[in-house]
Amino acid sequence: MKILLLGSGGREHALAWKIAQSPKVEKLFIAPGNAGTSAVGENVAIKATDFPALKAFALKEKVDMIVVGPEDPLVEGIYDSFTEDAATQHIAIIGPTAKGAQLEGSKEFAKGFMERHGIPTARYKSINAENLEEGLTFLETLEAPYVLKADGLCAGKGVLILPTLEEAKKELKEMLGGMFGQASATVVIEEFLSGIECSVFVLTDSKNYKVLPVAKDYKRIGEGDKGLNTGGMGSVTPVPFADEVFMEKVRTRIIEPTIRGLQEEDILYKGFIFLGLIRVKGEPMVIEYNVRMGDPETESVMLRVQSDFVELLEGVRDVNLDTKTLTMDPRTAACVMLVSGGYPEAYEKGKVMTGFEEAAATDSILFHAGTAMKDGQVVTNGGRVIAVCSYGETKEEALAKSYKVAEMIQFDKKYFRRDIGFDL
Ligand code: AMP
Ligand code: GLY
Repeated sequence: MKILLLGSGGREHALAWKIAQSPKVEKLFIAPGNAGTSAVGENVAIKATDFPALKAFALKEKVDMIVVGPEDPLVEGIYDSFTEDAATQHIAIIGPTAKGAQLEGSKEFAKGFMERHGIPTARYKSINAENLEEGLTFLETLEAPYVLKADGLCAGKGVLILPTLEEAKKELKEMLGGMFGQASATVVIEEFLSGIECSVFVLTDSKNYKVLPVAKDYKRIGEGDKGLNTGGMGSVTPVPFADEVFMEKVRTRIIEPTIRGLQEEDILYKGFIFLGLIRVKGEPMVIEYNVRMGDPETESVMLRVQSDFVELLEGVRDVNLDTKTLTMDPRTAACVMLVSGGYPEAYEKGKVMTGFEEAAATDSILFHAGTAMKDGQVVTNGGRVIAVCSYGETKEEALAKSYKVAEMIQFDKKYFRRDIGFDL
């Protein structure tokens, strides 16, 4: 089988690494990929949202399946574009239709969906310029802190958590006034939930599903989860509190009602459902849906998937995921992200990276996020640069191995958090 994977981050390197291990794969392309993916497949210089160029390439190379890494192509309708076109409808797309991708593309849609299907989530109100007064009144019924979410995609920056009512009211008006452009023309106001979060990844063929290893990510730049939000500074799987009792609640109260709800609303969904969950007094609630895998969760999750991943993807394509088995490595996997100094604010690129030979002699696995090749050397090419991932019998062992390799990989102004997994 010939597979085309879309995206260019650490998540895509981890997916490419896993997909390439399958004996079913004859050829793996990654568009556009990065310096890491070029070691396990062939990079193709096409943007993940350039549907005409992707179609032309897929037809020329006789691609059988497209696995979509990031959300943008899904929200922009890649599934619909390929399946409505007679020339490309034979190509399997792993990812939902544009309608299904609204679970991530519109917070208002996602909240309405959860309300319609009785899925536990924070109390909310959806506000636009017309009903601003209702929003201000709703804020008064809530307790601090206040959660405001831009309805549309904002590359992870559209959520504000405000400590006072005064600030919440002011920011609500600014968001509606165009703080995030069209994406915040509608704002979801939510009750603040207090608890520990985890990421649950569901693979569904629209009828059956499998739950991939549960992970926890660390979003803030600073230790102790302080400071600015980033794309993710590390991840750990499994998550001890997501035990069998908790996961049974997740399956019956969240996953199954979600899949039934999609069917009832006639939304075709063959792909990943990423549940951002929070445990409130022992009970799981949904913070958000994403329609893709998480980054940097995928980097540790892929280490623990033992089954042939491509066979699972075939199950999605053929709607017989119930006949496939998913086996998971019982060990812990932990990943530490090395980032460019200054990130998530301004940072420099093009720093020469060294230490790869020394790292290769360990059993840690490196997934490239923001790297490039320049004059035969690997250089930094983004804020998040490389994820160092390791197995361990315990969380401590996995992290100790990753931290050792994090010291071996060197580049000017390197930074990483030394407390990944601290709250587990
Ligand atoms: P989101 O983009 O929806 O994942 O929100 C980003 C982060 O904001 C989440 O990972 C949570 O840490 C936090 N957050 C979002 N919604 C809530 C909420 N209702 N209560 C508490 N924290 C929240
Ligand atoms: N790690 C969170 C995300 O991918 O959105």
